[in-house]
Amino acid sequence: MKTRLQPLLFVLLGSFLFLSSCKKQASQEATEAFNSVIPKPLTIDISGGAFFLKSDAAIGIKPDNEKTRAVANYLAGLLKPATGFDLEIQSEDTKATIVLELTSDESGLGGEGYRLTVTDDQIVIRSSEPNGLFYGIQTLRQILPSAIEATNVQNASWEVATGEITDRPVYSWRGTMLDVARHFFGMEAVKRFIDYNAMYKMNKVHLHLTDDQGWRIEIKSWPNLTAHGGKTEVGGGTGGFFTQEQYAELVNYAQSRFITIIPEIDMPGHINSALASYGELNGGTVVPEEGRYKVVDANPVLDGKIKPTDLYIGTEVGWSTLRFEKESTMRFITDVIREISAITPGPWIHIGGDEAHVTKKSDYIAFVNKFTELAKANGKIMIGWEEIAQGDIDSTSISQHWHEPNYARMASEKGAKIIMSPSTKIYLDMQYDSTSRIGLHWAAYVEADDAYNWDIATHVEGVDEEAILGIEGPLWGETIDSMEDIEYLLFPRITAVAELGWTPAENRSWESYSYRTGRQAARWKSLGIDYHPSVKIPWK
Ligand code: ACM
Repeated sequence: MKTRLQPLLFVLLGSFLFLSSCKKQASQEATEAFNSVIPKPLTIDISGGAFFLKSDAAIGIKPDNEKTRAVANYLAGLLKPATGFDLEIQSEDTKATIVLELTSDESGLGGEGYRLTVTDDQIVIRSSEPNGLFYGIQTLRQILPSAIEATNVQNASWEVATGEITDRPVYSWRGTMLDVARHFFGMEAVKRFIDYNAMYKMNKVHLHLTDDQGWRIEIKSWPNLTAHGGKTEVGGGTGGFFTQEQYAELVNYAQSRFITIIPEIDMPGHINSALASYGELNGGTVVPEEGRYKVVDANPVLDGKIKPTDLYIGTEVGWSTLRFEKESTMRFITDVIREISAITPGPWIHIGGDEAHVTKKSDYIAFVNKFTELAKANGKIMIGWEEIAQGDIDSTSISQHWHEPNYARMASEKGAKIIMSPSTKIYLDMQYDSTSRIGLHWAAYVEADDAYNWDIATHVEGVDEEAILGIEGPLWGETIDSMEDIEYLLFPRITAVAELGWTPAENRSWESYSYRTGRQAARWKSLGIDYHPSVKIPWK
């Protein structure tokens, strides 16, 4: 008996000593959350223990300045609704439960990189810049239970697995575009759109502010652009527009989330809303020709003045243009670029430049050169859709690839920088498949795996990799007119945009990404997001 009992007693004693001396082990759920961050971090080391966020927690900031206070307030605001905790912010306190520390020690990770360390009694996020602290917070959000995203107090245990994540992005340009011209989306929708981008560490939101169907940004020297040109939208709804003050509010809201707003005024084509607002800009009558259109010099005259065009509520493209030779056109583009530049603190202005099918080629090139000059004169860097490669662009301009590889190569040869938005891969308005309730499919059906399985650096052969700034997923608005519609097309594909822009190609795989995306569904449900349950993703 003695010999048979002895080992058993040793095991029992050993277990008792182990349990009483060891800290709590992380649950499987917390461990999986730690390993499921999107975009995938550079390194993940899990150490097996567990941290629990409690109501007496505080946020320590070091140094205590306006920037660290702003990110600490953002974090406290993020954690409050679901936990109900009022987390106090403590100055210069590196012993606090959650520490946000700016330190040059982490400058090796770049200004957007961060180190997040979780031990059983503390969470520390370090970065050399506030941007990195903000991205560390987004990661912390994802390693907390999904209930953290709920808008009311949850009865949950706020467990985080212990370990360390170091992280930094590959590309400096990570964003999406929202078309507010085809259908207008107001302040609340755009703010939510900005928040969704922030959640996945995106740093650009491009607003397509004007198109044939509507002019959505107030230009004080040309007030009829919005008073008349903002009145309708695709299908004939009531449209709308942002005052310059509202636009400034959006810019500030985005800035507080480390996102720069890129304003786009689409010229010289896609311009009917302006031609409908001011007859003096109208350069002729558009007539169909060989399946396309052309402009003839037959200006309809009304009361001795050129008649404006009619407002347009259809979805055809490529049939409107400014006329380069008109004095009113020069005044118009000068005023518009000046006013938009003045209300945009970011260094970029997007002048459109796509599908100007009825603009004479020589005029098109003259327009691009003039836009370049005006952007520079207003202290801005010009961005245009890929067709601007035909102009005299150089390393001071940015070309956005969407369709024609030759234009990307042409821009690269001219030394211009490039943003990758290939329509067959990352146009977020493309239908997932033929059963998608909204969206178009002129470029392709873009399923979740199509959106993920390509590489920014190698997508167009012959483009200098050094020239590529990053990625943007455009969400065009012909078929969408509600937040539910935005969410249906944005989720899950926004996570593909984010990971392609953030994570090095060698760290990416569809198997890992689709698994991690499947785990995001619980968070999206907590946030009330109407995501599309793509058949390609193993939803959890
Ligand atoms: C575009 O899709 N026309 C840029």
